[in-house]
Amino acid sequence: MTLSDYAIRLMQPADFVAIGEICRIVYPTETPYTPEELAEHHAVFPQGQFVAEHVPSGVPVGVHFTLRLRLIDYHIDDSWDVLTARGTFADHDPVHGKTLYGADVFVRPDHQHHGLAHALTDATRRLVIDEELWRMVGASRLPGYGSVAANVTADEYVSDVVAGRRTDPVLSAHMKDGWSVVRPIHGYLQHDPESANWAAVIQWVNPASPPPPELALR
Ligand SMILES: CC(C)(COP(=O)(O)OP(=O)(O)OC[C@H]1O[C@@H](n2cnc3c(N)ncnc32)[C@H](O)[C@@H]1OP(=O)(O)O)[C@@H](O)C(=O)NCCC(=O)NCCS
Repeated sequence: MTLSDYAIRLMQPADFVAIGEICRIVYPTETPYTPEELAEHHAVFPQGQFVAEHVPSGVPVGVHFTLRLRLIDYHIDDSWDVLTARGTFADHDPVHGKTLYGADVFVRPDHQHHGLAHALTDATRRLVIDEELWRMVGASRLPGYGSVAANVTADEYVSDVVAGRRTDPVLSAHMKDGWSVVRPIHGYLQHDPESANWAAVIQWVNPASPPPPELALR
């Protein structure tokens, strides 16, 4: 399979069942998205819900879900539930939301390591540029951290990944995709034992329209 076997496009209702199935595989400890939840995301912000389609089979094999947030209304260590209005995306703010919040990105395991997360992130980056937003923000899971958490602080772990001294299955991929780390936070997801319930807030700032300095994340 090469990248030419795939197309990045917007999510459609016909994708909902297949996306729920991928979610069940990549997040075995989480309740997978239901078609009703995906329909809510689609209704709220259709142009922010991307899929990678495997063209020969016509099925979605990866997703990147986003919404626009007015980040000043939140705290840097707010959980996924808070930032997504309990997964509904009802807090999407198409007028004042100058931050594209990356609520989720995942790729079916048999299609990982083909550059699909990278291609999906490039699509969200284009949306930020087209809509003249300030930045993309997300929180990266740290699935390599749980096994070393007894001996290494989350700060040390994240610094090591950023410096290339360690590799994390998720954060390292995000670093290669052009994100930078703001800081590690605890309790972002409810059940993420692989990450010892830690995550790293990450961002990509739009060089053409960055936030005013007083609203920069640091
Ligand atoms: C994190 C995740 C989305 C990455 O998806 P992916 O499509 O495999 O990502 P990419 O292919 O763009 O990049 C992954 C790696 O493949 C490499 N790669 C990219 N294209 C490649 C190719 N053609 N051949 C071989 N390797 C390639 C990248 O350099 C990258 O290397 P790294 O892991 O050493 O950094 C995926 O692992 C996943 O779904 N994980 C489970 C869900 C999850 O935790 N999501 C993150 C929530 S924050």
